[in-house]
Amino acid sequence: MPKNIAVIGAQFGDEGKGKIIDFLAEKADVVARFNGGNNAGHTIEVNNNQTILHLIPSGILHKGTINIIGNGVVVDPKVLMEEINGLTDKGVKVTPDNLVVSENAHIILEKHIKEDKEKNKHLGTTARGIGPAYTDKAARAGIRVVDYINQNNEFSKTLSSFVKNTTLLINNLINTDKKILFEGAQGTLLDIDHGTYPYVTSSNSIVGGICTGLGIGPKKIDEALGVAKAYTTRVGNGPLPTELKDETGKQIQDIGKEFGATTGRPRRCGWLDALMCKYSAMVNGLDAVVLTKLDVLSGLEKIKICIGYKYKSKIIKEFTTDVEILENCEPVYEELSGWKEKLDGMNDFNELPENAKKYIKRIEELIEVPVCIVSIGPGRDQTIILRKEFLF
Ligand code: GDP
Ligand code: IMO
Ligand code: MG
Repeated sequence: MPKNIAVIGAQFGDEGKGKIIDFLAEKADVVARFNGGNNAGHTIEVNNNQTILHLIPSGILHKGTINIIGNGVVVDPKVLMEEINGLTDKGVKVTPDNLVVSENAHIILEKHIKEDKEKNKHLGTTARGIGPAYTDKAARAGIRVVDYINQNNEFSKTLSSFVKNTTLLINNLINTDKKILFEGAQGTLLDIDHGTYPYVTSSNSIVGGICTGLGIGPKKIDEALGVAKAYTTRVGNGPLPTELKDETGKQIQDIGKEFGATTGRPRRCGWLDALMCKYSAMVNGLDAVVLTKLDVLSGLEKIKICIGYKYKSKIIKEFTTDVEILENCEPVYEELSGWKEKLDGMNDFNELPENAKKYIKRIEELIEVPVCIVSIGPGRDQTIILRKEFLF
């Protein structure tokens, strides 16, 4: 049984990481964010009650879980305060006992937000100041949480009670055998190094980002789970080879309620891209995949999986981050039969429609990684475990 599990996005973000982390956090002691900022929007649904988190880790709804915002995160203090207050209003206690912020995390300032809005429209960023804040960090012109507090800024008094050296904290927690979830934000193809550059975010959203974003050694990560939607979505600009600009795309968007949790923008929808997921599995060293939103595909007559890209009359069989190819290729599809049944109330793999089982098995074959969980709805209980050996 793993003690520490990385849970990261295997596609372009919004794969349902928040839901899955909340589900797994039932048995975890700690949930730690290591990258990104409030560009993230992680949705959790418990008893039809929805919570959207941007900065606070997705373990916060579980009493007794310690939530850590690591040094690799960029923090907008105003947004953090609003999020703490919003949760408090809903009856969720957020105190220095269950939320800890790294003193080394960098601060998002007003000027970063302004710059993001002015300069990054062509990328379709979330306009939260993420890129400019990381730019200042890399240029050694940034302000860390500890500096912000020392300078007595607007939110520094309240913020200071949550601030610690989280590197010491998390290593102590690891050494005392606590069960830890490392919560990724964004997704593998939005990673600054491994994504579809320049249509990416400004941090490392892959498993590799955990070591730098929290200050732990690589051997402390026991296992990596990649969360992938049963299809593909992307919000913002950049290539999406399997994008469906037809009725089917619209149907998936409607049924899947594919509108961004942070900006409300519609998410572009397309078929699952097996090349992309396989690449993700490699880059992150995935042990298993969590397949979400399978319910959204109910009612489709045919379901397609992309197994190649046709570019300039050649068939490419491996994913590439060459945006020129991704934008101009034609996907090569394998077609599977769909299923009519709604998946509501199903609790076991064997209860799923035969064609849904075939779809899952084919995905496992194509990406060469087992599926350990299938999610069939936004709720905590709409989760089917296929292989419990990968879980706490
Ligand atoms: P994250 O950024 O990866 O945490 O994902 P988001 O919360 O931005 O987007 C995922 C959306 O899908 C949210 O609205 C979730 O409530 C919802 N969701 C998650 N899993 C499922 C699922 O299995 N089925 C359906 N229908 N919705 C889901
Ligand atoms: P979660 O954690 C989906 C996208 C933006 C844009 C690009 C760069 O909820 O999965 P940025 O503001 O980061 O400079 O924008 O990345 N993006 C996301 N898309 N989910 C996210 O986070 C995202 N965070 C950023 O839409 O295309
Ligand atoms: Mg999201």
